[in-house]
Amino acid sequence: MALSKFLGLFLIHIALLSSSCFAADPFVFYDFEVSYITASPLGVPQQVIAINNKFPGPTINSTTNNNVVINVRNKLDESLLLHWSGIQQRRSSWQDGLPGTNCPIPPKWNWTYQFQVKDQIGSFFYFPSLHFQRAAGGFGGFIINNRDIIPIPFGSPDGDITILIGDWYTRNHTALRKALDAGKDLGMPDGVLINGKGPYQYNDTLVPDGIDYETIDVHPGKTYRLRVHNVGISTSLNFRIQSHNLLLAETEGSYTVQQNYTSLDIHVGQSYSFLLTTDQNASSDYYIVASARFVNESQWKRVTGVAILRYSNSKGKAAGPLPDPPQDEYDKTFSMNQARSIRWNVSASGARPNPQGSFRYGSINVTEIFVLKNKPPVTIDGKRRTTLSGISFVNPATPIRLADQFKVKGVYKLDFPSRPLTGPPKMETSVINGTFRGFMEVILQNNDTKVQTYHLSGYAFFVVGMDYGEWSENSRGTYNKWDGIARSTTQVYPGAWTAILISLDNVGVWNLRTENLDSWYLGQETYIRVVNPEVTNKTELPMPDNVLYCGALSKRQKYAKKSRFYVNGYLRKMAVKTNNG
Ligand SMILES: *[C@@H]1O[C@H](CO)[C@@H](O)[C@H](O)[C@H]1NC(C)=O
Ligand SMILES: *[C@@H]1O[C@H](CO)[C@@H](O)[C@H](O)[C@H]1NC(C)=O
Ligand SMILES: *[C@@H]1O[C@H](CO)[C@@H](O)[C@H](O)[C@H]1NC(C)=O
Ligand SMILES: *[C@@H]1O[C@H](CO)[C@@H](O)[C@H](O)[C@H]1NC(C)=O
Ligand SMILES: *[C@@H]1O[C@H](CO)[C@@H](O)[C@H](O)[C@H]1NC(C)=O
Ligand SMILES: *[C@@H]1O[C@H](CO)[C@@H](O)[C@H](O)[C@H]1NC(C)=O
Ligand SMILES: *[C@@H]1O[C@H](CO)[C@@H](O)[C@H](O)[C@H]1NC(C)=O
Ligand SMILES: *[C@@H]1O[C@H](CO)[C@@H](O)[C@H](O)[C@H]1NC(C)=O
Ligand SMILES: *[C@@H]1O[C@H](CO)[C@@H](O)[C@H](O)[C@H]1NC(C)=O
Ligand SMILES: *[C@@H]1O[C@H](CO)[C@@H](O)[C@H](O)[C@H]1NC(C)=O
Ligand SMILES: *[C@@H]1O[C@H](CO)[C@@H](O)[C@H](O)[C@H]1NC(C)=O
Ligand SMILES: *[C@@H]1O[C@H](CO)[C@@H](O)[C@H](O)[C@H]1NC(C)=O
Repeated sequence: MALSKFLGLFLIHIALLSSSCFAADPFVFYDFEVSYITASPLGVPQQVIAINNKFPGPTINSTTNNNVVINVRNKLDESLLLHWSGIQQRRSSWQDGLPGTNCPIPPKWNWTYQFQVKDQIGSFFYFPSLHFQRAAGGFGGFIINNRDIIPIPFGSPDGDITILIGDWYTRNHTALRKALDAGKDLGMPDGVLINGKGPYQYNDTLVPDGIDYETIDVHPGKTYRLRVHNVGISTSLNFRIQSHNLLLAETEGSYTVQQNYTSLDIHVGQSYSFLLTTDQNASSDYYIVASARFVNESQWKRVTGVAILRYSNSKGKAAGPLPDPPQDEYDKTFSMNQARSIRWNVSASGARPNPQGSFRYGSINVTEIFVLKNKPPVTIDGKRRTTLSGISFVNPATPIRLADQFKVKGVYKLDFPSRPLTGPPKMETSVINGTFRGFMEVILQNNDTKVQTYHLSGYAFFVVGMDYGEWSENSRGTYNKWDGIARSTTQVYPGAWTAILISLDNVGVWNLRTENLDSWYLGQETYIRVVNPEVTNKTELPMPDNVLYCGALSKRQKYAKKSRFYVNGYLRKMAVKTNNG
């Protein structure tokens, strides 16, 4: 205690040297070396993206209000940005790691991210956001623990296990990108990976010999927190564990009303925490399954992720058929009803001592309304593209936030329409004009034939409604104005809509995108620009001194200033000392 207090005082001193430190709160440091390695998750050797030679990458473990410092070394042959999905980056879209806000880290360069995980708790993940790289890996979990003084709404778990699930192709990410550039569909994935590994051989016909599979080791009579993330490309997955219930406890930074599920649909980009009680008699190991949803089962059988849950007193191998997925071919509302059943625990504390529900979103008046409609891919100027409200987004050479800072004109248009365009689709850098401290209602209407998930960076939004058909003003009557979940990634079923509410209190330029990687790559995204007319670092932090320049501002790029790295290196040594003492 005394030591950390001492460190706190020490940090205040150091902070005077560096403009964007938050002195009073502790620091955590990570070094990420991002490089290619060869791996054979599905039995075929291929190039994957590793972090510190690990695939998937290491889990970032932080606590509310920590200052997180990540020195990223780009050893790829392409530029790189790491995006911290669901981390709100309060007051600093400078650290968001997306092409609309940050210049890419060139090959062979270092760049140090530094941000505070302010007022957040929960389960998130990071991934590389450029060049379709997520299809090759580079992802990992990101945990924000509660501060000791804030109670969590369940007993302290006996273990904390991150599980990354996702569809996977044996083609490398450059090959996948080329296919999309050539106007082709990616087709059916080759498998589903669980923590970077292929399926357990539950069936000799469907799974070849020699595949390395994931094993999760547990002890009987305990409770584990499983943090499950769909880091894949475009496949909605049903997650389940043979003979076990999944008690849902948290999603993307909000504690949920705790409910048991035998299986849960996890769409691309979504994160959930489950409490798993090891209450079975360990007569065998148990299957952990992630299988494709809403597809022809007989064709997609081999596209199934299977890992093993092994009790320390296990009496043998998992056997028999996999646990059944939901039997709902004739009931298309099953999955949506399950989504609607995920609600906010309004009495639990989140990152702050007051209950989550003390932010009464249902009694705030909406100030602006956007109806965003996606469509199946279209051809624009001879290219296959995806659209949102008739606009296919084009990333500017100069990131939007940087262009604003240096008053570069003509980089983007602040004219994203509040209703879908009716004319022919177009390619534009068109951005939503968000009003600082406004309360925005966004209706996401999915006119495609596949489930899409939408993610907003910088915020958690309230999911207040979803239904099949076209949204209309009357649909508001069905909104949940009390315990709709606050999260950053929501699914929108085909031929259906999802309504979200956003309190625009975070200044910056924030990405609103589909998480389905192919649709995103082809242009289904935009940004919401939120500006406080009064410039103050109380609502937005100054530009970091290590900012990278590109596009119209590339002439400003000098080689990295040494001082900042020196300060970080110095702090790192101090932190190590303190942890050991
Ligand atoms: C915010 O601005 C004030 C006054 O300009 C300055 O003293 C302070 O150091 C700044 N804080 C940060 C975190 O940059
Ligand atoms: C995260 O770090 C804390 C200590 O700071 C530790 O108690 C906890 O077990 C760690 N969690 C994981 C998942 O490593
Ligand atoms: C790049 O990262 C390496 C490894 O952490 C470090 O030794 C080096 O100082 C860093 N360079 C810069 C310019 O930050
Ligand atoms: C990526 O895939 C393409 C097409 O199969 C192949 O030509 C190329 O060598 C691969 N690159 C690497 C580094 O594996
Ligand atoms: C393995 O899968 C094949 C193809 O779906 C199926 O015909 C066969 O019955 C399965 N074998 C077992 C032992 O379940
Ligand atoms: C969830 O299921 C477990 C058994 O797996 C049971 O002990 C527990 O009471 C259930 N909890 C709720 C909230 O239904
Ligand atoms: C417990 O294990 C035995 C085999 O050892 C099995 O026959 C029995 O069905 C199991 N009971 C439960 C409740 O799982
Ligand atoms: C599913 O695929 C099988 C095998 O290709 C085919 O025979 C069947 O008609 C398909 N079912 C549906 C509902 O499309
Ligand atoms: C909601 O959170 C409270 C903690 O404030 C906890 O006691 C309660 O069990 C939770 N309720 C549900 C249904 O999860
Ligand atoms: C919301 O709007 C209604 C009528 O439009 C008004 O009476 C009410 O005071 C407003 N509430 C808030 C909190 O501004
Ligand atoms: C953007 O919105 C603000 C109000 O928040 C308004 O003053 C401004 O004129 C708008 N800009 C454009 C280009 O519409
Ligand atoms: C797409 O929109 C058209 C025109 O509004 C409508 O007729 C069609 O049913 C929609 N399809 C889906 C899948 O939503």
